[in-house]
Parts: sequence; C-alpha cells; structure tokens
Amino acid sequence: MSASRNILLLPGDGIGPEVMAQARRVLDWLQSTGRGRFEVTEDLVGGAAIDAHGVPVRDATVARALAADAVLFGSVGGPKWDSVPFEIRPEAGLLRLRKELGVFANLRPAKVFDALVESSSLKPELVRGLDIMIVRECIGGIYFGEPRGIETLPDGSQRGVNTESYTTQEITRVGRVAFDLARARQGRVCSVEKANVMESGLLWRQVMTALHAAEYADVPLTHMYADNCAMQLARNPRQFDVIVTGNLFGDLLSDLAAMLTGSLGLLPSATLGAVDAAGRRHALYEPIHGSAPDIAGKGLANPLAQILSLALLLRYSFGMTQDAALIELAVENTLGSAGRTADIPAPGRATLSTAQMGDAVLAELGRLG
Ligand code: IPM
Ligand code: MG
Repeated sequence: MSASRNILLLPGDGIGPEVMAQARRVLDWLQSTGRGRFEVTEDLVGGAAIDAHGVPVRDATVARALAADAVLFGSVGGPKWDSVPFEIRPEAGLLRLRKELGVFANLRPAKVFDALVESSSLKPELVRGLDIMIVRECIGGIYFGEPRGIETLPDGSQRGVNTESYTTQEITRVGRVAFDLARARQGRVCSVEKANVMESGLLWRQVMTALHAAEYADVPLTHMYADNCAMQLARNPRQFDVIVTGNLFGDLLSDLAAMLTGSLGLLPSATLGAVDAAGRRHALYEPIHGSAPDIAGKGLANPLAQILSLALLLRYSFGMTQDAALIELAVENTLGSAGRTADIPAPGRATLSTAQMGDAVLAELGRLG
C-alpha cells in the first residue's frame, strides 16, 4: 500500500463543520476498506480562528497547510464577525491561505446531474447534460492588486481604491491549466475578460492568443467579454466547455454557472498551485457554497459539495482516480434514489438531514465498493 498522505481539514464556520463531518466519514470509509492511508489533522480558520486566536488564520495553520499533501476547506464567515476590522475578517483567512499556498488555478466544475435537471432555475432542455469547467485565476487580479485601500481626500470625503492587474506570467500559467484540461475533456476554451474596457483585459486576450498559437493550436479558443459571458451562460450554457478568466469575473461567473446546476450545495472546487520538481503541488479543495449562517447548526445543510470536494482532492492530489470516481458515482446514485436535503427537494422523496445524507452516501459506497 502507498505511503500515508497528510490531509489538513479546515472546517471553518457556519455549516462548514457539519458538512466536513460527513466528508470525514467518507475518508474513514476509504481507510477502513484499505483504499488509502491518511493522516488527518484539523485546525481553525475564519471566524472560528478569530474567536480562539484573534486572527482568521494563524501562522502555524498556514505552515501546516504548506506541509500538508492537501487541504480540505469548509467555509468561512457569518454575521457574527460583521464588525471585526476588515483586515482580519474571516474571508481574509481564506485569501491568505490561497496566496501563501500559491494556488493560482481555481477549478470550478458546474455539472448537472440527470436526477437534478428539474432543480435548475433554467428549463430542463437547456441544462440537461451540462458540464462546464470554470478555471478562475485565484491569487491575482483585483483581489490582491496594489494600490488598494480607503484614503481620506483633502475635503474630508473618502476614496476606496482597488487595482486590477495581471502579468504575462500570471495569465500564461492559468491559461495552460485551462488548455490542458480542455485537452483531457476533448473540448474547447473560452477566455473571458473586458478587453473592450480594461488594459489588463486587453493583455489577457493578447497573452491567451499567443499561448494558444505557440502551444495549444489543437484546442479551439474563443474570446468573450465578461458581461456577454454572463448573458450566454443564462441563455445557452451548453455552448461552453472550459471557461478561463480572472479572479473577480471568475468569482461572479462561477456562482452563476453553479446555480444552473440546481444547487450551490452540490458543487466542489479545486484550487491548484504549480507542480514542483518533485511532482508535488499545493492544493486546496473547497465547496463553492458559503457558510450559510441562516441554516448553520440545524443539520439541514447539504454535505454533497464537501464530499465531492474530497473526491477532487483524491483525483488531483493523490491520483486516486478510481476512488474519486467511486465517490462521484455514489453521490450521483444517491441523488437518483435516496431522499434529498432541503435545498434540492423532490416530490415523493423524504427530506434528509445532513447526517442522513451522509448515511445515504456511505450506504451507496458500501453497496458499490
Ligand atoms: C469564493 C468566495 C470567496 C471569494 C470569498 C469567501 C472570499 O466568494 O470562493 O468564491 O470571493 O473568492
Ligand atoms: Mg464566490
């Protein structure tokens, strides 16, 4: 059996701990059936870390994340921390982790399960079979650009500033991830920016065009303005295969794409760094949904996005392709046959709690495995 892998769990706030507990059961199942050996540790992030330590992520936690083979993240934030200083808000913990891990490529698949075609807010015929991959640049752009801040003007009024900036190298490395994925999916790449308004977008388009010509001429590439892309996602989402875009547009478009699938509670994501000489890369896996404070602690949350994030972790960080596929199949079968959590109700199906949905997935894993 292969060496034990070191996984750091960061459940975070709100529904994070509840859904993480279900992903952990799946990890335990993989261990108990001899499919993998994991050393699992847990730490605080976000509001939970603020409450305990006064910061949204401790240096020691960042160090553990850097040392881990992979990090599985829950969600952060909630009204409880609305009034903490901006610099130490819960979200800053996640942003710092992304930055320090250097995980620049955020992969956000939006896939419609057949059993959930009716849950989409779009007509079934528009979303059936939908399978999009959004590749969002994750440690650059306006999220991190300088200058930034709020300054006081001579007349006493204030000015808030953020800066969108992208370098050739930042665009190229995320572009390669998108083209490589498209090759594996036998698909096409749509590069998204606002080259009609922003210089950073103009450079983005030029660099993507050059990269395509130099290394990926076999993969069809198109370009789209971000506003048009939002419209096209709502109009005819199946025209897309891989979308590659900057940090802020990727944040917006991935929420939109996610909703096409029927529930934010179903979508995982993987955020990957560069592969080093030893073939290793830092990676952070997290559901797309937030901490959902309104339902936290009630056992109502859907744990499937967290469980599917674990599947992505197994696939991308550990090369455990079969086990990842097994978990994905178990989730798909569960959606087709068992009850449902409250976010994706179906007529005639029982409403399951978070733990009951975990039970259903484990039962299906047991049956399949
Ligand atoms: C996301 C979230 C984060 C982001 C927040 C929580 C900082 O919206 O992962 O999409 O804006 O990146
Ligand atoms: Mg977001």
